[in-house]
Amino acid sequence: MGKMKGRLGNDFCPQPLFLYGNYQADGTPHFGLFCWFSYCSLQDGEEEALGVMACIGEEKLTKDLIREQGMFSANLVTRPLLPLADYYGTTSGREFPDKMRRLPTVEPGQMLHVPTIVESPVSFELKVVEERRLAAGSGLFLCRVCNVMVEEGLADSSLPFIQRLHKADPVITAGEARYASISGEDLDAWGEPGAALRQ
Ligand SMILES: Cc1cc2nc3c(=O)[nH]c(=O)nc-3n(C[C@H](O)[C@H](O)[C@H](O)COP(=O)(O)O)c2cc1C
Repeated sequence: MGKMKGRLGNDFCPQPLFLYGNYQADGTPHFGLFCWFSYCSLQDGEEEALGVMACIGEEKLTKDLIREQGMFSANLVTRPLLPLADYYGTTSGREFPDKMRRLPTVEPGQMLHVPTIVESPVSFELKVVEERRLAAGSGLFLCRVCNVMVEEGLADSSLPFIQRLHKADPVITAGEARYASISGEDLDAWGEPGAALRQ
């Protein structure tokens, strides 16, 4: 089959979803939803370490908190977490100061002063090594992975990895602003799963 010229965009580029977490000045946890997130290797002082690349678009509370504190957590979004995650992704923290009236179970990070989500099976604790301004509304945060907490059942390497991945049940976004399960089921459009929580 031939190819035709496509629309410029990132459809067909599946991305897992993460909730980025920071503590606010009064100690309340804050979370925002993100998908422009991937691995890299980076230099942190004398050491080469595992890193992540987190791209954050326009100015927002998550970006303010990450810049202030130089750290954040990234918590894998699973199907049961999707309504809350979608609410966090479609409610601006700057515009709605009571956004965090809805909270998951929060546990402090083990290495960094960041909130992590107990219901998420994988939580990264990330230290910002560098911020690169890519455009007026786009910043790339290069971060060192300082710690990863993984639900016990997912660390059992006697099970094939693909089984553990399905057990984790992560939600991805693959294109056209829709959510999907890791096994390819279409879930909902962005903004739908969290609609009831926005009221
Ligand atoms: C599915 C989904 C994925 C998102 N991914 C990103 C992303 O990778 N980068 C980004 O800057 N914003 C992303 N957003 C938008 C933020 O989640 C949104 O701006 C939210 O208001 C951030 O929370 P805050 O305003 O409290 O900081 C995404 C939103 C949704 C619904």
